[in-house]
Amino acid sequence: MTNTPALVVALDFPNAQSAFTLARQLQGIVSWVKVGLELYLAAGPSLISQLKDMGFHIFLDLKFMDIPNTVQGAVAQGTAMGVDMLTIHLLGGQKMCAAALEGRAQTLTPGQIPPLIFGVTLLTSLGPQDLIWDPHGSPEKLQHVTVTLAQKAHHWNIDGVVCSGAEISGIRQTCGPDLGILTPGIRLPHADKGDQCRVCTPAQAIRAGSNFLVVGRPITRATNPVRMAQDYNQAMYQAFVEDI
Ligand code: C5P
Repeated sequence: MTNTPALVVALDFPNAQSAFTLARQLQGIVSWVKVGLELYLAAGPSLISQLKDMGFHIFLDLKFMDIPNTVQGAVAQGTAMGVDMLTIHLLGGQKMCAAALEGRAQTLTPGQIPPLIFGVTLLTSLGPQDLIWDPHGSPEKLQHVTVTLAQKAHHWNIDGVVCSGAEISGIRQTCGPDLGILTPGIRLPHADKGDQCRVCTPAQAIRAGSNFLVVGRPITRATNPVRMAQDYNQAMYQAFVEDI
């Protein structure tokens, strides 16, 4: 997995125009952008190729979870589109994860770098009380579920997992350096959490061993998004160099 952690800006907008306005400002400052459900449904596949032409790496975060055959087809389409990373839900199980890997191989063209497939463990908006199978959940139980899912993902040859800052070090220790870790719910110290439950700072995520840090509203809704993206980059860089 990549040695230098990357900042991924989540373009969570309801239309292509707003996404492009921000993307143009972020060119040369950020190399990864995330296209999620809202923007993808509003703007469609042409947005992906336009963002690619602008030089961005694309993280297509549609979090596939369906029967294996359907997920295989979806991942095949994502690969054909040329995205650099996409997500599936690990709770979809081993057969669905295997089908995702098959889908990727199916449409990969010679010389194409395969998109990274990352598995969502538990959404970072969920807290210990939100595990519907265990209403008396605790942070430890939540951690256990997340680490167990990450171990499975590693075993099933999935490239990486999506988890909150609280679970990074547990997953790193259990799964070793090869499994990628992507962490949303990142906030500079004292920033607003919004609807996120399990948040951490860029420095905490880097020190614990995350490879990709996803930041949405703190940058997209900032008065000065460029300045804010630079602040996140700076915080990440500082923690990274202090760590080596
Ligand atoms: O605005 P904020 O920084 O909270 O955005 C976080 C982004 O990360 C959103 O685009 C959200 O969909 C995504 N995400 C998440 N939790 C996950 C997976 C992805 O918050 N488990």
